[in-house]
Amino acid sequence: MEPLEQNLRIPGPTPVPPEVAAAIARPVINHRGPEFAAILERVTVQLQQFFQTSQPVLGFPSSGSGMMEAAIVNCFSPGDEVLAVTIGVFGNRLAKIAEIFGLRVTRLEVPWGQAADPQAVIAQLDTLPNVRGVLLTHNETSTGVTNDIQALARAIRTQRPDALIIVDAVSSLGCVDLRMDDWELDVVFTGSQKGWMVPPGLAMIGVSERAWAATERATLPRFYWDFRMVKKSLAKGQTPYTPPVNLYFGLDVALEMMRAEGREAIFTRHKRVADLTRERARAFGLQLFAEPSHASNTVTAIRVPAGIEAKALTKALREREGVVIAGGQERLEGQIIRIGHLGYVHEPEINACMDALERQLTALGYQPETSTTPVEA
Ligand SMILES: Cc1ncc(COP(=O)(O)O)c(C=O)c1O
Repeated sequence: MEPLEQNLRIPGPTPVPPEVAAAIARPVINHRGPEFAAILERVTVQLQQFFQTSQPVLGFPSSGSGMMEAAIVNCFSPGDEVLAVTIGVFGNRLAKIAEIFGLRVTRLEVPWGQAADPQAVIAQLDTLPNVRGVLLTHNETSTGVTNDIQALARAIRTQRPDALIIVDAVSSLGCVDLRMDDWELDVVFTGSQKGWMVPPGLAMIGVSERAWAATERATLPRFYWDFRMVKKSLAKGQTPYTPPVNLYFGLDVALEMMRAEGREAIFTRHKRVADLTRERARAFGLQLFAEPSHASNTVTAIRVPAGIEAKALTKALREREGVVIAGGQERLEGQIIRIGHLGYVHEPEINACMDALERQLTALGYQPETSTTPVEA
């Protein structure tokens, strides 16, 4: 099969650097042998740097959604009251999973395109004296909005010191600052196919001391997702079930690349490419979907201009330019396009993507209204 020469600009899966791809192609090894144990240990230590936690980070053979379910079944019991702060598709998914498992879920729904307001969360918590947990999304991939988790967590802690703070950081961790221990977050999870430059299939989750205590109390049934089994195996340099060994090879190399670049430098690069994406979109007269103060550094949502059909645009980009971007999800289908800029991404790929976008929009009849002030004659 010929490799596709594509500029993959969806918000995950993201491009895999050649060094990581080469590592993944290595021969499989025994997952119960010393070589795998050494990799697992290295990967765990490096992940702790990015989760910014002293707790062991657990790995699961899973996509990100598995971690949503894992967070719920490990921490809660049927009938537990939780507040789900939802700002888009993925916040809704987490709320739905909690409902399916019999939790009493109160939803604080924020208009799509906006971030959650800590004051609104405080007001909602006032009405929920028995709340056991708050479900948050760090980066809402469906709208291109990043919540201020530090401010939200501070508000929640002040109001309900014992509530578990569960954070979906699937499309932000490793790209945007998130301090699990300092901000007192209890469960934080992500997936290999986002900022980690590794193909899909390996999910990672951090669990605080407060959450570990909750796993002992929680009565929801669990087997595959049981945090305790993973922690016990980790102490022996193993996982309870067969791990995606080759993805671990890839993650090991990717994390070494990330360590060499430096955590802060990675955050700065993500801000730089995000700023570039937004600037280029605005300069071409396009409207951004997210409120500017909380625009995501990993994905940019752009409103589809009037008269343009989103599907025709993404098709033209893919077929004529080799540029693959995402459309809108659910009620945003046809309304927005989304450009992913997370993981292995630098300015040239963004410029190439935006050049192609300009060409194909023009070919479809779009005429940019100049965003600069017209020069007086
Ligand atoms: C914020 C967020 N949460 C959860 C998920 C679900 O992850 P997965 O598709 O890996 O199951 C995604 C996927 O895009 C996401 O962006």
